[in-house]
Amino acid sequence: MILHSSLRTICSLGLFALCTPAFAQKTSAPNLESRVEAQLAKMTLEEKIGQLNQVPGDISTGTDVGNDDLLAKIRASQIGSVLSHTNFQKKIMMQRVAMNETRLGIPLVFGFDVIHGYKTIFPIPLAQAASWDMGLIERIERIAAEEASADGQHWTFAPMVDVSRDPRWGRVMEGAGEDPFLGSRVAEARIRGFQGTDLAAANTIAACTKHFAGYGFVEAGREYNTVDMSPQRLREFVLPPFKAAADAGSASFMNAFNVLNGVPASMDKNLITNILRTEWKWEGLMVSDWNSFGETIVHGAAEDDLDASAKCLTAGSDMDMAGGTFQRGLKSALEAGRVTQAQIDEAVRRVLRFKFSLGLFDDPNKYLNQQRRDETLERPEFRAVAREAAAKSMVLLKNDGGLLPITEGSRFKKIAIIGPYADSKSNKDYMSFWTLGLGMREYDSTKVVRPAQALKPALEEMGFEVTVTEICLDANCFEKDYSVAIDAARAADMVIMCLGERGINCGESRSVTSLELPYDQNRIASVLGRLSKPTVMVLFNSRPLVFDWARENIPAILVAWQPGFETGNALADVLTGKVNPSGKLPLTFPRSLGQVPIYYNHLNTGRPQEQQGQVWTSGYLDSPVEPAYPFGFGLSYTTFSYSGIKLAKSRYKMTETVEAIVTITNTGRVAGEEVVQCYIRDLSADIARPVKELKGFEKIKLAPGESRELTFRLSEKDLGYWNNELVWKMDPGKFQVFLGGDSKNLKVGAFEMVR
Ligand code: NOJ
Repeated sequence: MILHSSLRTICSLGLFALCTPAFAQKTSAPNLESRVEAQLAKMTLEEKIGQLNQVPGDISTGTDVGNDDLLAKIRASQIGSVLSHTNFQKKIMMQRVAMNETRLGIPLVFGFDVIHGYKTIFPIPLAQAASWDMGLIERIERIAAEEASADGQHWTFAPMVDVSRDPRWGRVMEGAGEDPFLGSRVAEARIRGFQGTDLAAANTIAACTKHFAGYGFVEAGREYNTVDMSPQRLREFVLPPFKAAADAGSASFMNAFNVLNGVPASMDKNLITNILRTEWKWEGLMVSDWNSFGETIVHGAAEDDLDASAKCLTAGSDMDMAGGTFQRGLKSALEAGRVTQAQIDEAVRRVLRFKFSLGLFDDPNKYLNQQRRDETLERPEFRAVAREAAAKSMVLLKNDGGLLPITEGSRFKKIAIIGPYADSKSNKDYMSFWTLGLGMREYDSTKVVRPAQALKPALEEMGFEVTVTEICLDANCFEKDYSVAIDAARAADMVIMCLGERGINCGESRSVTSLELPYDQNRIASVLGRLSKPTVMVLFNSRPLVFDWARENIPAILVAWQPGFETGNALADVLTGKVNPSGKLPLTFPRSLGQVPIYYNHLNTGRPQEQQGQVWTSGYLDSPVEPAYPFGFGLSYTTFSYSGIKLAKSRYKMTETVEAIVTITNTGRVAGEEVVQCYIRDLSADIARPVKELKGFEKIKLAPGESRELTFRLSEKDLGYWNNELVWKMDPGKFQVFLGGDSKNLKVGAFEMVR
């Protein structure tokens, strides 16, 4: 705090070269701070409050809070930002009004949920995380930013970095899964992709890291529900990706809808001011979630608009998304002495700085160039990345007897592709709520390459006879389709079942109470599976699902997630072996809903269960403790072997770096990529520590027979932890280090840290 106010004094004295807020370092916009101050000095209170107001454009992703006469409000300087507007010409018009028909001509900033691509649709974020390929994720967001910025968007409400262990929560699809370390690396990659190295460049957009904080831990996985967790756990599991995002220069953050430990996140001063702004020294723009300032009243934590405005602003939030709470309550809060002019100015300063950083004052129309738009959207080369991403995201869970890949000259002749997601022509499938929901984009479904559309010709070219049988999941057509499908399966030598969830059924406000394959799909799986044909189950899913019978009985299972535009091509690439699968689960797949929450980095309990049925141990009477598939798991068409772990010594000084060395060999017959994962366990800390914590990973490609030695370095930042007094510390004593291809099958080494 002291550092911040002294910085401000330096800024107001005109020593601007010293003023480098974290995100502003990444913009080429000149004389930023002096221009912000000059602008601020000209503004009336009403104009300032207008800059803190963000209103929805033509689509809605929240409860309708009303949006009458947008242009009139822009003209009256009551709007600083517009979100979710998809019409290019109208954006040009709005910007023209803001620039030419208002007293000060302050440009609008346009925000949009660019979640897994803008016009070219990539796999959902959870799937992208399953690739464990940070370079690929960065390339995806670079393309998303190219397209969004060419269509007049300046700002994406992404990345969502909420760690979550609850597949009931519909938004697990939008994050990077259950692990804070993987989540941090994904957050950085996405921010690099969106923001590039210069926010003011016409082809970059500002990132918005969300939702600060705790949203992934809503009770019972129920959307918008309460979150209660110890501050220690918050530090350990929730905050790391936010910290990584702040350090990576995320230009903005978004509040969360939820109450965290009794306080609605939008008015949580401890989170926003103490941790984010003071401790982490982050100086970006904090925007509310949709009407989340207003919802503090519904939470019962604020009385009215005045009270809500005062509490949210003084907590450190800046901009009001869609609720109009500041418009109605901030001036009265000032008059009542609940906020100071300096506090309002500080929030406005952050909005202005944000706009200057994006280069909007220098050229408000640089993102509104029709020719660039025409040349940029949905360029064919973007499709190639979408295909690569979809294939690299897929996770092979089971491949008994090497059933996959399907190769020429195989003993099968006839292949039946069957299922509700074999050839769906609905634009509600293979993508997500974010691309399809609420009329958000006018996607005609022909943009998606359907599974059978690509797979059938690919297999036919290899000499197979292929039939495609769709199964409609409506009560009035299911039985008929289902019996046709059984006949088709009987007539074939091999069956590929395409099952899963509708894309539209995942995302915000899409929580569920069952993880079973929806509708009657478990019946499809078991009846077709019992025909005893070589069968592959392909899942199009947005969360971990439960498919107990299939897990035991279907020989090959591939998680394809919601792969986006290149669904069919990517699936054909993987099933025919053109691409060797290399995805690994970023979220544990439970055996049953009853195991949830289930996650790899749990504490041990005093009585860990080794075998089901052992009484007086921590387990269930009716289920093993082990999940269906652990975090980090995924097979390849080749196999990898791991050497033992080499450590230079067994005792290290606490200031030293531990080097754990392992050699990985491709022991199969084809080239493949492996995600080598490094975990630790602290055995002698002052508090109980997780049985495993991911501390590093590297994705490597090996030719058949090739070996590679990898070194993982572990220092205090990896071996330390937050204690219950919220002090970061590292204790001397015993540690284990684990290296391997998933969180269960690992080589183990041991060392000791000494003072
Ligand atoms: C509500 C969602 O929670 C948030 O993630 C999103 O960015 C906003 N709506 C805007 O659409």
